[in-house]
Amino acid sequence: AQLNNFDIILFGATGDLAMRKLLPCLYQAHAAGLLHPEGRILGVSRSKLDTAGFLEKIHSDSKIHIKTHFSEEMWQSFVRRIQYLTVDVNNLSDFERLAQTVKARTQTDNVVIYLSTAPKFFAPACEHLAKVGLNGSNVRIVLEKPLGTDLASSQQINADVAQYFQEQQIYRIDHYLGKENLQNVLPLRFGNIFFEPVWNRDFVQSVQITIAEQLGVEERGEFYDSTGALRDMVQNHIMQMLCFVAMERPKSLGADDVRDEKLKVVAALKPMTANDVARNVIRAQYTAANGLKGYLQEHNVPADSRTETYVAIRAEIDTPRWQGVPFYLRTGKRMPSRSAEIVLNFKPQAKPLFGANANRLVIRLQPDETISTTWWVKQVGSGLDVQAATMTLDMAQVSDERRAEAYELLLREVIDGRLNLFNRRDELEKAWEWVMPILDYWATTPDKPCEYPAQSWGPQEAKDLLARDGNAWLEDQ
Ligand code: BG6
Repeated sequence: AQLNNFDIILFGATGDLAMRKLLPCLYQAHAAGLLHPEGRILGVSRSKLDTAGFLEKIHSDSKIHIKTHFSEEMWQSFVRRIQYLTVDVNNLSDFERLAQTVKARTQTDNVVIYLSTAPKFFAPACEHLAKVGLNGSNVRIVLEKPLGTDLASSQQINADVAQYFQEQQIYRIDHYLGKENLQNVLPLRFGNIFFEPVWNRDFVQSVQITIAEQLGVEERGEFYDSTGALRDMVQNHIMQMLCFVAMERPKSLGADDVRDEKLKVVAALKPMTANDVARNVIRAQYTAANGLKGYLQEHNVPADSRTETYVAIRAEIDTPRWQGVPFYLRTGKRMPSRSAEIVLNFKPQAKPLFGANANRLVIRLQPDETISTTWWVKQVGSGLDVQAATMTLDMAQVSDERRAEAYELLLREVIDGRLNLFNRRDELEKAWEWVMPILDYWATTPDKPCEYPAQSWGPQEAKDLLARDGNAWLEDQ
């Protein structure tokens, strides 16, 4: 395939995300021969460095995050693409220099501006980019999360950027959309005859969506304490997983047809009253156990913090397909293992010949990428007794192609100008709208978060939430 030439202007180039993910992912794309040979990366940040100083910094801070396909020779050829410029987002003359640097190129047909900075810098950066002419139709702008802390702030960010860039130029990142097995849900559902006929309220008992993390808050106590699991994971990543599972068949695979259907899912989530939140949302903090600190003992976390490190929600989607089907959403830090998965539990048959069967489908995004179905099969021996058996499709065995990390895939999508895997403004704002009653309730209730020991699957209250409906989380099934 023909590779598009590009200039990537990376704001926040000395920041954590650039060092840990963006530069290593660009390296991988480079090493795999997936970047146009003349494509160039222009790192910018406030730090007063020259290109040599920046290269030294990434040599020590970023190179260590390249886990595969590393060679010193490849690294040297990669860094030839990189240049650095000191830019203060509030200083127009810095942007004039930036524009000159970009325009000095013979071919600047594809300019990607990646704002990997705190969102408070988006508005001045966009304004100045526009002033120096770096917002034309050949320019795409990538917005890194967090895209707001509530509905009002996300609307503000979107409005600020929209003053200078058209929606078609804006790429809102949610790195979960870059995960292969989440994208796989669309062909699984709409490209096969097996699942779609039973993918509805007549056959599905409940849906579970889990993102479990083994890590605690690590060194991010300060950021995390003002964020919490709902903002950090549910409003964005869990919501994307939910959309892919619950959406209707899009008219086409075009970006806006797919995004229209995702939007309809979020819009159909039943709004919660304060009573609903009290009944259907569990928030919790991990406590010291297994030699690990509790959340309240973590560095930079106030001893009386109420920030949730775990949340479980019983949601419902008000569409003919899903009416009455509970969607259990949960995420937590300090769980026993790291995983992200979607579970469909099917209803038992009405008049079972073989005892109450309970078919199940599990789509795993990580750590491995698998799709498993559990069904009843005959037990060996005389008679026709049955037992449950699981059939697993491991995507690593389907193809031994190199599997790119989410950020690499997304960066390549931006370079190629495909919006499918990026959030449209209306989707993002609808998602915030839905979580707002939860945030509002937590801000006023005197109730404290529940507790769960570090390295456990969450609080008892979250088990009770499902038990009420006669259901159980996957690990308890
Ligand atoms: C980020 C959150 O968006 O996603 C982190 O800010 C979290 O807190 C991370 O650890 C999880 O991503 P992944 O790809 O490791 O599941």
